[in-house]
Amino acid sequence: MTNLTTILKKYKESGTFTRDEIISLLGIEDEKELMQLFTQADQVRKEYLGDEVHLRGIIEFSNWCIRNCLYCGINRCNQELARYRMSSDEILATAAEAISMGFKTVVLQSGEDFYYTGEIVADIVAGIKAMGAAVTLSLGERPRADYAQWKMAGADRYLLKFETSDPDLYARLHPGSSLAHRLRCLEDLRELGYQVGSGNMVGLPGQDLASLAGDILLMRSLSLDMAGIGPFIPHPATPLLQAEPGTVKLTLKVLAATRLLLPRTHLPSTTALGSVDSDGRRSGLLAGANVLMVNLTPLRYRNLYEIYPAKAEVKDDPGRLKIEAESMVKQLGRRISTGYGHGNLYKPKPQINA
Ligand code: 5AD
Repeated sequence: MTNLTTILKKYKESGTFTRDEIISLLGIEDEKELMQLFTQADQVRKEYLGDEVHLRGIIEFSNWCIRNCLYCGINRCNQELARYRMSSDEILATAAEAISMGFKTVVLQSGEDFYYTGEIVADIVAGIKAMGAAVTLSLGERPRADYAQWKMAGADRYLLKFETSDPDLYARLHPGSSLAHRLRCLEDLRELGYQVGSGNMVGLPGQDLASLAGDILLMRSLSLDMAGIGPFIPHPATPLLQAEPGTVKLTLKVLAATRLLLPRTHLPSTTALGSVDSDGRRSGLLAGANVLMVNLTPLRYRNLYEIYPAKAEVKDDPGRLKIEAESMVKQLGRRISTGYGHGNLYKPKPQINA
């Protein structure tokens, strides 16, 4: 038996991997073995979550940011970028349109922008909840009191990626910030009752397979409801402009291994994956992913939210993007969920109709 066959056989008995086994999975180069890994992840996705794919509509409402993360195109040191902020009314109108198109979840994302106070965000959350959608927030690190206020206002989920589980690499990439503090925020969110999303980037400079295995184990120990896994893409207006990008192949391996270790967690086939390869999101859906994000940011702002270059979906209107996502899902023999797609951690497996 090959090493992979042994690892997968053991996995089927125990449902788990050692760190070394994860490193072996991430090191697979043989095409046949890769297919074996992706197929196994796809089966586990089907067994635990069924064939439904959840669409999340994302509104990137401000590209102002107080941070200077070395990889990110909207970091505060990027002087070339025109900055925008959407008003509360504009955000609510965009959300209303999304809901009328059938989106059940609205994701609100921005740079870390304290112009939007606890209260302003709470009012927006309450407004969207009153329209009947679930709300995910992705606004970075904020005081616990803000997280608490937004939960009270009805927010369902919060997305805060840890980006890398290596504390030294984290500190290098995020000047003035620490992995410990990020984990503290994630703990606050969990304690406050949010469904918690986190995740990493794949192919960061200075990251190796052992470090990625650590990311996957961290995702598991955080019992995440959602985990976003995307390739690192160097942005020309950042200090990492010369760095090598993360590859689709390695990203898919991380995604598949994560699906095997976190069978019930929502895993998006990320926009970043679709940006490095036009087939990337489809490949992600075949390697364990069960969620797609659709960009609802008004077109006049879209290209200003350039966290990485050549971001997919910069030009198309939401209606068109939704149709494209739906047809991709249909072609794969799957269907778009009509429910909210809340976290599944404590749900039984779906019934398989014979
Ligand atoms: N390449 C890929 N992903 C990036 N992100 C930010 N900058 C980049 C980049 N250069 C991701 C981070 C962040 C999410 C909103 O976008 O993972 O959490």
